[in-house]
Amino acid sequence: MLFDGERRAIMSDLRQLKIDAKIIKFSDITYVGIGGEPYSFVFPRTLQDLEKIVGYVTSHDIPFWVIGNGTKLLVRDGKIPRLVISLSRFDLQEEKDNGDSFTLRLGAGVSLQFVVACGIKKGFKGVEALAGIPGCIGGAVKMNAGTRIGSISDFIQSVQVLTISNGRTKLEEIKPEFKYRWSSIKDNQIVLSATLTFKKEKPVKVRDEVSKYLKKRFETQPVSAKTFGCIFKNPENGESAGKIIDELGLKGFRLTKRARVSPIHANFIENEGDACFAEVDELIKYVKDKVKQERKIELEEEVVRLLDDS
Ligand code: EPU
Repeated sequence: MLFDGERRAIMSDLRQLKIDAKIIKFSDITYVGIGGEPYSFVFPRTLQDLEKIVGYVTSHDIPFWVIGNGTKLLVRDGKIPRLVISLSRFDLQEEKDNGDSFTLRLGAGVSLQFVVACGIKKGFKGVEALAGIPGCIGGAVKMNAGTRIGSISDFIQSVQVLTISNGRTKLEEIKPEFKYRWSSIKDNQIVLSATLTFKKEKPVKVRDEVSKYLKKRFETQPVSAKTFGCIFKNPENGESAGKIIDELGLKGFRLTKRARVSPIHANFIENEGDACFAEVDELIKYVKDKVKQERKIELEEEVVRLLDDS
């Protein structure tokens, strides 16, 4: 009841502020298809809209989460007393031809597969490193998404962020530090856009590289299942977390009916129907514990949990 009353009040405030809000379940928008129902989602398109929303939530002490495409999110079930700010409509696309390279400024909501498609058409050297990754620029930059052949940081010149501190916002152009699946971008910094540079390559060569890589991905990963992509980062020695889990005999392993370790690649967990948060959470913890017990390796998760205290 409390939740519904608070939601009504928030929806009414948002209407007055002329901010479009939608009631959606996380299970309908996350890649893995899991997660409950927050107060509502808002989808700002401009910096002004975003600042208006941030101003509203901070001045009213309304808990909020900022999300991108929801590719790596494991969100709890049930009613969630949060407002969710999705940057999926930050779709800026600017392109400059420098003669021997292209510079792109891309909004947080632009999908990596759009970048790959442009790269095939125009000839972005090395763009195959991003082929098949299901996320958008915002999340991909924050976690330095990539594959075995490269990461998005290989192409990043700078990143525009909105830093929120003590209820105030500051627009900044930063050059983050990047490591394997990690960036120095802080949790109070919202990625708005990134500037990427690609050297030029013959489009036909880029197309061949992308198709070679996608073919391999289709053969070795559960691309049509509901997953998070890889659950764990590979350990520092460069071993494949998937191979380690596979060697422990866990391919296809399940604790419950609706979630299993993928039989195709052991670093993926598949939601086979309408699995809930706890089923997947427990399976991830089980696999992690088993690897620690048997191999003395502490796997680090790529998946980001959204819980009430995060
Ligand atoms: N392998 C197994 N069993 C498995 C999985 C892999 O034996 O269940 C073996 C493979 O046969 C291969 C080796 O392990 O010999 C490496 O496998 P793969 O090429 O699939 O690479 P990976 O290290 O398991 C990484 C990224 C993937 C990315 C692929 C391909 C991480 C955590 N994973 O996987 O990224 O798609 O390389 O470039 O860095 C992601 O981050 O979400 C992701 C899926």
